Amino acid sequence: MEMILMIHSLLRYVILILLVFTIIKAFAGWFGNKEYTASDNKLSLFTFISAHLQLVVGLGVYFMSPVVKAGMSDMAAAMKEPVLRFWTVEHILSMIVAIAIITLGRIMSKKGTTDAAKHRRIAIYYLLALVLIFSAIPWPFSAVARPWF
Ligand code: HEM
Repeated sequence: MEMILMIHSLLRYVILILLVFTIIKAFAGWFGNKEYTASDNKLSLFTFISAHLQLVVGLGVYFMSPVVKAGMSDMAAAMKEPVLRFWTVEHILSMIVAIAIITLGRIMSKKGTTDAAKHRRIAIYYLLALVLIFSAIPWPFSAVARPWF
């Protein structure tokens, strides 16, 4: 559990960095009227893969986690307790929705008929996912504080 949680914790930075790069490149491509290149596609693919990898690792963590177990043993009580509610419901739900948005963004981008549309869809969907992921990370300065790594 400790090892997998550490991997899960570190993977956040891989995802965040990849997301930021992909989003900047997509906005630059969109507003700069640039071609949607193979490297754009690769970058968005790596971001997509890292998010899905985190989903698999996260599911592993979820079913091993003592705090989730505590929350699930009495869901009604857990819903009234902010920290238990966060770990049992909010974190997993936000992250799964965010990863679904990334997936949708990639599908929509592939369906785009112009290079601008491909860039635009990556830019918007990935930005939305970034905001959601950022807000659901247990940052040390948040109410559900966990260490930086
Ligand atoms: C982009 C997606 C995600 C990011 C960036 C992320 C990030 C994090 C971070 C930073 C922690 C704290 C690690 C620590 O205490 O050292 C954490 C804990 C946790 N995450 Fe995620 N997570 C993501 C997705 C998920 C998903 C999809 C699930 C469930 C399916 C999940 C389940 C958990 C659980 C259960 C814990 C805490 C376990 C415990 O302390 O007992 N995460 N996550």
